[in-house]
Amino acid sequence: MISATCVAPVNIALIKYWGKRHEDLILPVNDSISMTLSTDELCAKTTVTASESFETNRMWLNGEEVPFEGSPRLQRCLKEVHRLAVANGSQKVPPSWKIHIASVNNFPTAAGLASSAAGYACLVYSLSRLYDIPLNEELTTVARQGSGSACRSLYGGFVQWHRGALDDGSDSVAKQIAPSSHWPNMHVLILVVNDERKKTASTKGMQQAVKTSQLIKHRVDKVVPERITQLREAIANHDFQTFAEITMKDSNQFHAIALDTFPPCVYMNDVSHRIVSFIHDYNEIMGGYHAAYTFDAGPNACLYVLEENVPHLLDAIQKVFPSDSFDSDTYLRGLSVPKVDK
Ligand code: PMV
Repeated sequence: MISATCVAPVNIALIKYWGKRHEDLILPVNDSISMTLSTDELCAKTTVTASESFETNRMWLNGEEVPFEGSPRLQRCLKEVHRLAVANGSQKVPPSWKIHIASVNNFPTAAGLASSAAGYACLVYSLSRLYDIPLNEELTTVARQGSGSACRSLYGGFVQWHRGALDDGSDSVAKQIAPSSHWPNMHVLILVVNDERKKTASTKGMQQAVKTSQLIKHRVDKVVPERITQLREAIANHDFQTFAEITMKDSNQFHAIALDTFPPCVYMNDVSHRIVSFIHDYNEIMGGYHAAYTFDAGPNACLYVLEENVPHLLDAIQKVFPSDSFDSDTYLRGLSVPKVDK
């Protein structure tokens, strides 16, 4: 028996991935850029064990068994890892041995907090340790086939997932733009508005967007390429003003496309919109961008803010969103005690 245990953090997209050009290989229609959080907050932890005595491949997520054989994505990741093990001449685990996977998230699963990104990144990295495969761009193509955004969580700091041009997906890889030490005072506050599972899974939301949204083509052709260049430059220059503006605009455009999808996908709720207004008012009062919001496929807000501005922003959030000002339980969590990634 042989085991490996790893931890992988979530990444939060600044320029969103939304839409695939190949469903099975998970090839995106546009490049995306994200920041990977540190390992002390939102993480997946996975143990993979291979043994001669296991009869089948099995997996448990947060303590409950999930059907391994019923998941083409899990199977594809394992198959790709086997392929890379052969290519790398690794003989650490005999190919006939079955594996057991136990994974836990320390945050709500599928609530638009990038749980699948952390989960598949953690699974693929754990498998790479087990099978003795190096962490390189090729490994990001394996994580990508579990969940697209997972390829970005294999690296820390700021990461770009390149859409690639080849049909086999071999150039659709994640590359680090800069490590987290490049901009060490960049913080993320997560405001958990609602931790229930999202209504429309991102796979379905993306399929329908590509099929029905008229805005998505404009985004892919005209908007994203320019934003990628500008955001890379902003990161390189520690330019928070440009960083914040692009991040907020891209979140808004992603949700505009979700609404332009037919039938529409509604991921943000009233509280999310109140947070957006609050951040714009706050920035106006502060006389420049002191905080930037972004929302994934759910109502929860991720706020980017520089370390020196965290206490003031937290104070303002607590004044505007006091925990007793909401009558529904779902609104309270996180707004009264935001989770701060250090
Ligand atoms: O990788 P998926 O299928 O969970 O899709 C992630 C999509 C967004 O989180 C909304 C955007 C992104 O780039 O992470």
